[in-house]
Amino acid sequence: MSKPPFIRLDGVSKSWGGNRGVECVDLAIDEGEFVVLLGPSGCGKSTTLRMIAGLETPDTGRVVIAGRDITAEPPAARGLSMVFQSYALFPHLTVADNITFGLSVRRVPRRERQDALAKAVSLTGLAGLEGRKPAALSGGQRQRVALARAIVAGHPICLMDEPLSNLDAKLRHAVRQDIRALQRELGMTVVYVTHDQTEAMGMADRIVLMNGGRVEQADTPDALYLHPDTAFAATFLGSPPMVLMPAASVPERLLPQGAPRALSGLDIGIRPEAISLAEPAPHRHRATVRDAEFLGAETLVYLTTGTGEAIARLPGRLTIRAGEPVGIDWAPGAATLFERATGKRLAPPAREYRHAEAGASHGGSAPPRPRDATGHPPHFQTEILP
Ligand SMILES: Nc1ncnc2c1ncn2[C@@H]1O[C@H](COP(=O)(O)OP(=O)(O)OP(=O)(O)O)[C@@H](O)[C@H]1O
Ligand SMILES: [Mg+2]
Repeated sequence: MSKPPFIRLDGVSKSWGGNRGVECVDLAIDEGEFVVLLGPSGCGKSTTLRMIAGLETPDTGRVVIAGRDITAEPPAARGLSMVFQSYALFPHLTVADNITFGLSVRRVPRRERQDALAKAVSLTGLAGLEGRKPAALSGGQRQRVALARAIVAGHPICLMDEPLSNLDAKLRHAVRQDIRALQRELGMTVVYVTHDQTEAMGMADRIVLMNGGRVEQADTPDALYLHPDTAFAATFLGSPPMVLMPAASVPERLLPQGAPRALSGLDIGIRPEAISLAEPAPHRHRATVRDAEFLGAETLVYLTTGTGEAIARLPGRLTIRAGEPVGIDWAPGAATLFERATGKRLAPPAREYRHAEAGASHGGSAPPRPRDATGHPPHFQTEILP
């Protein structure tokens, strides 16, 4: 029998007057798992986290930690620590005192406090800064103090609410790796809130994508990216997001296997990196190049089709002329059909597009590039001109 989940939310809802926070959220988190709550502003991420923490009481439903119903228990009785966006450091205390504050309150003996401090300081790379006040630290260092404080608490669960949003992009990337490494080393169970999908993709064992107070889809980053259940999930993940167009507007050979005959009311979704460009031809979808951006490792080509906009993401420096007519192509297996009215993915065809077909054994790599009639991947070698 598999182990019961470490943290469980059963039908948890919370609203304020007519203001919906979250609605009927079910969630099961395993011990040692790194789970990211992801979604747009106001979708209920913080409310969900705060109910796990005990900072909000659900109107309905239960919160269970380690098999114990703790729905009515105060935060201190739940065995968890929290890291917030605002570091919540005491400005008049030194780094060391900030880190060990909770231990002092709990009257942990001095010797033990010092051992815990030494370990946390070395794990978070803060050695040498113990005597400084928060005002004399950089944003990234303050963030590490907040992390160190969560670590010394020694709790098995750590909840983090947008802990990196005050940091610049480079630092955010560095601290994000530190957090992941620490979590692995300490075996902590982490629930981490962010609205940044790259952060979620890079850090999570599992992403819980929320939308309007509900769980839209909870899955591994790979599965969420490759098999989104809804058009919302397909377009929230991925930068640029999945391209959606009316299924009836594309040539039949580009439809996924098992597509129904009646295509009205269906959208076809393709990841920008699964789209390739070639000369216009009847068997290819027609588009016109609107613009192109060279981003270093890749080029984004903005396209106008008969029904709207599309984006192709091509490796390297692609040179192409704005206004140029092109044929766009993709492997039918890389496409997904969604019902436009409900946003739901059409039941997957019998032979679902699998990771192995993408030529990858792990990680979120791109689906295969379609090949043209010559058997070679079609490519363009013209100049990007204004
Ligand atoms: N104390 C409160 N009183 C009234 N409404 C609230 C309260 N807290 C949250 N809400 C509402 O609940 C919804 C979810 O809020 P929540 O803070 O969980 O969103 P979030 O996903 O964390 O958003 P963000 O990314 O902006 O932090 C929002 O519509 C918000 O206005
Ligand atoms: Mg929030």
